[in-house]
Amino acid sequence: MLKYKVISKNSEETRSLAAKIVRQLKGGDVVLLTGDLGAGKTMFVSGALNELGYKDHVISPTFNILKCYFEVKPNVFHIDAYRLENQNIDIGLDEFIEGNGITFIEWPVFIEPLIPSRHIEVSIKRIDDNVREIEVSDSNDNYKALFDAFEGK
Ligand SMILES: Nc1ncnc2c1ncn2[C@@H]1O[C@H](COP(=O)(O)OP(=O)(O)O)[C@@H](O)[C@H]1O
Ligand SMILES: [Mg+2]
Repeated sequence: MLKYKVISKNSEETRSLAAKIVRQLKGGDVVLLTGDLGAGKTMFVSGALNELGYKDHVISPTFNILKCYFEVKPNVFHIDAYRLENQNIDIGLDEFIEGNGITFIEWPVFIEPLIPSRHIEVSIKRIDDNVREIEVSDSNDNYKALFDAFEGK
């Protein structure tokens, strides 16, 4: 199990961490985002997307479940499974998750059967208004280079 824990003091630090992580990812990779509503999961995705060159404001896909960013390379698929709550998960999300983009998934717990074993998990915990504890983990040790980069190796 590879693990990295860090304190983010504001949104910008969370976005920078996301940018650092996405630089190490490639098409096909899956990032799970866990944490309560308002933790900063969508903020994290916006940092990653902006790093890949997406200039606009990133909005939550909560009301659409899936938002595709074909204008960046690799493509980014942003899933928010909150409204699915284990129901009606058979809507073709697997095509994206198994596809050749980087997929970010908020509330992966609600689409558990669709989550591949190879993934990174980013767990965000609210400490106070601006402070978050962020833990990045990889239970199958697939992303050694990424964790080495955290340690500055
Ligand atoms: N350190 C931080 N990291 C991320 N978001 C933060 C931080 N501090 C404050 N925030 C605020 O918390 C909110 C997070 O919202 P959002 O990313 O939509 O949450 P989620 O997608 O987890 O429900 C934003 O309003 C953001 O400005
Ligand atoms: Mg969100």
